[in-house]
Parts: sequence; C-alpha cells; structure tokens
Amino acid sequence: MIDSHCHINDDLYFDKSKEYIEEAQKAGVQSFFVIGCDLKTSLRAVELAKKCDCCYAAVGIHPEDALKAGKNDLELIEKLLSEKVVKAIGEIGLDYYWEKDEKMRDLQRKYFISQIDLANKYLLPVVIHCRDAYGEVLEILKNHKVIRGGVMHCYGGSKEMAVEFIKLGFVIGIGGTCTFKNAVHPKEVAASIPNNSFVLETDAPYLAPTPHRGEPNHSKYIPLIRDQIANLRNQTVEEVEKETDETFKRIFL
Ligand code: NI
Repeated sequence: MIDSHCHINDDLYFDKSKEYIEEAQKAGVQSFFVIGCDLKTSLRAVELAKKCDCCYAAVGIHPEDALKAGKNDLELIEKLLSEKVVKAIGEIGLDYYWEKDEKMRDLQRKYFISQIDLANKYLLPVVIHCRDAYGEVLEILKNHKVIRGGVMHCYGGSKEMAVEFIKLGFVIGIGGTCTFKNAVHPKEVAASIPNNSFVLETDAPYLAPTPHRGEPNHSKYIPLIRDQIANLRNQTVEEVEKETDETFKRIFL
C-alpha cells in the first residue's frame, strides 16, 4: 500500500523518519508520498525522497502558508521541479475555513493559479488542499485545466462534486475522516465514487483515524482506512489495496 499524503517532513517526524518508515512498512505500507507545504518542508520532502527509494516528493506552497512565503520562494520551488523524485506540485489550493480576509483569500488564489501554471509547464500533476472553498476550487480548475490532473486530498465535499473533479482528471484522496462517526460526506463519497478513482492517505501527523483520533497520525494507520473503505464499498481489502495502488501509479508515477 501507498500512503498518498503524509508529512514525514514535519518537525514531529523528520528526525525520526527512518523509524517512522520501518514502523509503517511493518504495517504493510511500502511507499510514501511526502507533501510540502512551504519551502522548508518542500526541501525536506526532496531530501527524504532522495535518501529513500520508498519516498516520493511533492513540493509547493499551501494556501495557509501563502501569506508567510518569501518573495523568491516560488522560484526556489520551481528549481526543485526538475528533481526526478518530485512527482507533483502540492499541496496547493484554497482554505477559506482559516482565512476570512478577502485580501488574503486573493493572495491564496494567486498562489494557487501560479502553481497550476507551473504544473502545466513541467507536466506534473497537483495535490489539492481545499477547505470551505469547493465551488471556487472547481471553477478555478475548470478555467485552468491541469493537464495531468491530480488528487483532491482529504476530500470533504459532496459526492456530486466529487464526480465533477473526477471528470477533470482528478482522483479523490480518502483518509481518516471516513472513519469518523459523524462524518456523513466522507462516508457517502467513499461508498459511491467509481472504482479506480481514489487513493489512500493519512495526512499524518494530522487527522488520525478512529480509534486514534486526537493522537498524532501515522502512515501505519493506512490499514484502518483501507478496511473502512472496503466495508463502505462492499469490496475486499485486497481489491481496495490493488485499486488504490494502481490509481496512485497512474496519476503520479
Ligand atoms: Ni497535508
């Protein structure tokens, strides 16, 4: 299995990445897509991927980090795109949950669109972070098509909208939220989207699945998410494993 979205580059895990990877591999998770949020974590993602064959890197500026980004950060991110271990730009997108200020939202949109342009310039897929802004992200993706598509990470929108993203060449990232007791949308989405249109993710160290809610998340919990998806879709765990691995490879490798 592949954890299609984790932050081993986070301060919590970066110095213990070897132990982290060993622990997850013991649980059956072989590969890790390490996602950047800013320049520092993007550089770390590349470093990890160069050190370990089981890691791939995504580099980019997260909407919440757009405000703090230095003037040349995007140029420096662009320099990383020619590294072979870099398989996507991300995570990029819009976060209107945390950002209420219209000027700052404007800045998020600017960073989002510039990074879509970069993805198309280097023919890379994207990893999208979206919170409370699904309508607008969909509009932007319709007007700025990403040639290679990508993933809607930690998808929290409706099942109808998921179909719209899939039409645009995206797959749906399903993580811990589909195990939460009161999470209606993530469960509906996991149950109803077509085969071969989703990938497994943890977003570690965030969003640990039940029964680890509130603890730091870890890629070793991927089997809990796999089992829940199999349960919601009436598929075997082997089918979910095989399909999600193939889908990840189709989009990113
Ligand atoms: Ni993330």
